[in-house]
Amino acid sequence: MGIGKKLDDSNAPGAAEQIATPIQESTAKSGVPARFETIKPLYRLGDLIVSGETRSSLLDFLAFKAHYDKVFDGWGLSETHKYHRQSSINFHGAPGTGKTTAAHAVAFEMEQDLILVSYAEIESKYVGETSKNLVALFDQAKNSGAIIFFDEADAILSRRVTNMSSSTDVSVNQTRSVLLTLMDQHRGMVIFATNFMENYDPAFIRRIISHIHFTLPDTDARRQLWAKFIPPKMPVEIDVEKLVSMSEGLSGAEISNCVIKSALSASRRARSAVSMEDFGRAIDEILAGKRANSGLKQRGSTTTERHVPEDYVREQIGDTRVKELMK
Ligand SMILES: Nc1ncnc2c1ncn2[C@@H]1O[C@H](COP(=O)(O)OP(=O)(O)OP(=O)(O)O)[C@@H](O)[C@H]1O
Ligand SMILES: [Mg+2]
Repeated sequence: MGIGKKLDDSNAPGAAEQIATPIQESTAKSGVPARFETIKPLYRLGDLIVSGETRSSLLDFLAFKAHYDKVFDGWGLSETHKYHRQSSINFHGAPGTGKTTAAHAVAFEMEQDLILVSYAEIESKYVGETSKNLVALFDQAKNSGAIIFFDEADAILSRRVTNMSSSTDVSVNQTRSVLLTLMDQHRGMVIFATNFMENYDPAFIRRIISHIHFTLPDTDARRQLWAKFIPPKMPVEIDVEKLVSMSEGLSGAEISNCVIKSALSASRRARSAVSMEDFGRAIDEILAGKRANSGLKQRGSTTTERHVPEDYVREQIGDTRVKELMK
């Protein structure tokens, strides 16, 4: 689970009444809308070490956002593009490359809080309740002015189920429709992050204004990452340039882990300094783990299937909606 967590609160604001018909229909009869924890961003842009291209895409996006109010409100785009004020951004790339850190950094630069939410936190075992939780989430973001951050977003942005065979499919498609509507109506910002962008539904891709790729760190980024994570008072006997070349293929998170592993290994062996041998062993171990892992079949969507009776779905969202979804 992410830093943000769903809080049970019977006084949570419910916004189902304020939005379009399909969402009202989808609201379950019982249950209380979820409330999500809002946090202050923990990292700044200066904490993020990325390749030049990723950095300039991030800076472009931040500059772009600065012009939004001018063109939408001042130049009238809010009239011509009522439901297309896209302010969603997507960070995609390998694990541990800084996507979550970047979400914090963007929020920090925009002087806004973050609502960190994973699909597991909004998914409900009752059909309709997931949609209700989504509505509550967007409502809370609107009221608090916070940025919504969907981590592991492929779980929720994956392709629509087109071959309707069970009520679970109805539920999944219903959630997609609700999220699409909410994104069209929301004026605040939403950040998505994923390791599996290939699973995204094109309807969502269209609604996201900027897709930023987080690559594994290049030579220069690795040099900065080692410098960032090796504390100045840690005794070391190392050739930094050698470390930089030995660590090709490691992510920022893995370089950070290597420093901890090497320090512990040197301390356990009662060495006076952390040596290249300690670093080399830690790097080899991580690279070997990655090689073994790449042999495994990659997982697809993180959505798990769950079956519920079709009668229940009809009762919750109505016959008309079920027919629409089955078209
Ligand atoms: N580009 C980076 N710049 C600075 N620190 C980084 C970077 N990438 C990773 N790290 C370090 O690794 C930790 C994990 O990174 P982060 O959570 O941002 O990666 P992620 O891309 O979101 O990973 P995942 O796909 O597994 O969610 C960070 O807290 C930070 O210490
Ligand atoms: Mg992350």
